[in-house]
Amino acid sequence: MRRHLDRLLGSRLQTTLVILFSLITLVTVGATALVTSKLIGDYLSDAQDRRVSRDMQLAEAFYEIKLDKIRTTARRLASSEPVVDALPLAADGDAEAMGTLQESVENEIRSQSLVASHFIVLMDAKGESILGRTSHVPGDAAPVQEGNWYRVQEGNWYSLPIVAAALGAGDEFAATEVIPRELLDLLGLAEQAHLTVLETPKAAPEPFDPREGTAGLTLTAVAPVLSDEGDVVGAVMVGHLLNNDFTLVDRIKEVAGVDTVTIFFGDLRVSTNVLDLGGRRAVGTRLSQEVRDVVLVEGVVFTGPAYVVKENFITRYEPLRDHRGDIVGILYVGARQAAFQSLVNEFDTRILVIALGSILVAVIIAIPISRSITRPVETLAQATEKVAQGDRTVTVPVEGTGELTILARSFNSMVETLRTTEQQLIQSEKLASVGQLAAGVAHGINNPLGTILLFSDIMRKELPSDDPRRDDVTMIIDEATRCKTIVSDLLNFARQNEVLAQTTDVNALLSETIEEITVQPVFDQVEIVTRLDPSLPEIQADPAQLREVFVNLMTNAAEAMEGGGSLTITTASAEDEMIKIVFQDTGCGIPEQNLSKIFTPFFTTKAIGKGTGLGLAIVYGIIKMHRGQIYVESEVGVGSTFTITLPVRLPILPAEAGESAATDQTSQAQPK
Ligand SMILES: Nc1ncnc2c1ncn2[C@@H]1O[C@H](COP(=O)(O)OP(=O)(O)OP(=O)(O)O)[C@@H](O)[C@H]1O
Ligand SMILES: [Mg+2]
Repeated sequence: MRRHLDRLLGSRLQTTLVILFSLITLVTVGATALVTSKLIGDYLSDAQDRRVSRDMQLAEAFYEIKLDKIRTTARRLASSEPVVDALPLAADGDAEAMGTLQESVENEIRSQSLVASHFIVLMDAKGESILGRTSHVPGDAAPVQEGNWYRVQEGNWYSLPIVAAALGAGDEFAATEVIPRELLDLLGLAEQAHLTVLETPKAAPEPFDPREGTAGLTLTAVAPVLSDEGDVVGAVMVGHLLNNDFTLVDRIKEVAGVDTVTIFFGDLRVSTNVLDLGGRRAVGTRLSQEVRDVVLVEGVVFTGPAYVVKENFITRYEPLRDHRGDIVGILYVGARQAAFQSLVNEFDTRILVIALGSILVAVIIAIPISRSITRPVETLAQATEKVAQGDRTVTVPVEGTGELTILARSFNSMVETLRTTEQQLIQSEKLASVGQLAAGVAHGINNPLGTILLFSDIMRKELPSDDPRRDDVTMIIDEATRCKTIVSDLLNFARQNEVLAQTTDVNALLSETIEEITVQPVFDQVEIVTRLDPSLPEIQADPAQLREVFVNLMTNAAEAMEGGGSLTITTASAEDEMIKIVFQDTGCGIPEQNLSKIFTPFFTTKAIGKGTGLGLAIVYGIIKMHRGQIYVESEVGVGSTFTITLPVRLPILPAEAGESAATDQTSQAQPK
């Protein structure tokens, strides 16, 4: 695996690129993931808040509906004709009237199907009970059973503020009311209302209402019974005890789909479907002080996450008020946070998976991409190494148009330039050292030759004209003269001769030379074409030496075109105050392997005795002495082109006049 990866991430550059790619992805994907997660979290938490608000609205609606039902029952009974008529009589002990009231109450109970924890009390104008019924009452305190309901004990209800208010004002009231133990006793509901207040962590040290545990929280409605004259003759009280009765909270939970609903009396849970650790309804436990202070003390709605009994909920607590507007309890709804949390977690997990997947994909994509970047770089690096080791034949593939392609192309041309420059340098060095040798030999031979010529000439003069030895001496003189020419040629090549520079019209010099030379038989079949630039500037040069250059080049061309051909001679101005003279023939051409040798002294392809091989060596020497350059291009069977460039002004410095080719390392002979 590691080896595989090493190979994949072969170069350090590639590893760096892959790491960079991955880092960029990591940062962007990571940031995106965080933002997305935050957004989703916020959205879900918003959704949670909306959910509990909705839950609370539903719960309130159900609570209100329940209270309304109780209010309607009270109102209907209080305003029903039999009750209005019978109540004052029954108060005075009229048995028939009592029977009428009883029938009315029982009808109401039946038609409203009032079930557990309800009570109905009919009372006179002073709050003294006339008739009362309570639904199912558990325990020993059960009063006498009347049908399915139980009879309420006699007593005075004026002490209950809502009763006093209704009797006093002749108005109907319906609210969440606290009924103290004594009155619950009358109803036979004291035991049901009783709750053992449990030690609850985080709850306030003291209960909000000292009656918590004994008094009952009820939905109570009191409607006055008015005589035809409009006097208050009594009242009908209908109520529903919430303590330990779970019908309302369960109905809200089931019908409205609310997770948990609780009704608090003060800070005590009296009715709830929140379960404690033992799986029982968590009645008897108390609210945390934090929430109590907000809802009960400040009278403000509390929303937020809260730990309820054993689980985290998103909660909402709203105060419940009695008919006077005093806070007596709390209605609570809670949505399980676990459901939301698992949704959040699920989203987070998905985001994480997507993020990791993206990073993995980025790495997988980064490997081939970085490979495509590093491959050409690697190839270049390897090629550079080869060049450093001396290989001048290296080329790198050039594909496409990008910067790397430009680099590859530059590299190839750099190697090409390096190769030709190197070859030129070698060639120049070779010619320079040959020149040194030639110069040495020439100098050494020149003087003895002079002596030989001098004395042989004297000898010939001294010999009588019929002396048979005279021919021999003449032979000595001829051969010595030939040697002298060769030595002079060698010195030309070695640039040991002086340049007698004068203003020279190259065009005129060329024309003269052509005229003179073409009389020779070798030019018989050669057509000479001249393209001389009439505006060619005159240059500083040694005309005798230039003539020798022209003669040599033209002779070579003619000799290369034995079967006939054409020699085109062109002159033109060139850049940097130079002129250019081109000799283009249609001769046999020069084979590739000879191109580097033709300027070497004594290199010839001609038969022995035909050529000395000094022609081009002299040309080279003369051009160098004139600070010019000579190039050759040739193709076998097509022809050769010799191009000379010469400066218009010859910069001869005194020190340079005697300089030798041997020491000129910058010679620019350009045999192709
Ligand atoms: N124009 C040309 N076409 C074909 N080959 C040429 C041409 N010029 C020179 N050469 C080749 O270069 C060789 C060297 O030329 P160079 O002038 O130095 O000597 P040469 O002509 O052989 O003898 P020399 O000039 O001394 O009589 C020639 O032998 C010939 O092979
Ligand atoms: Mg020649």
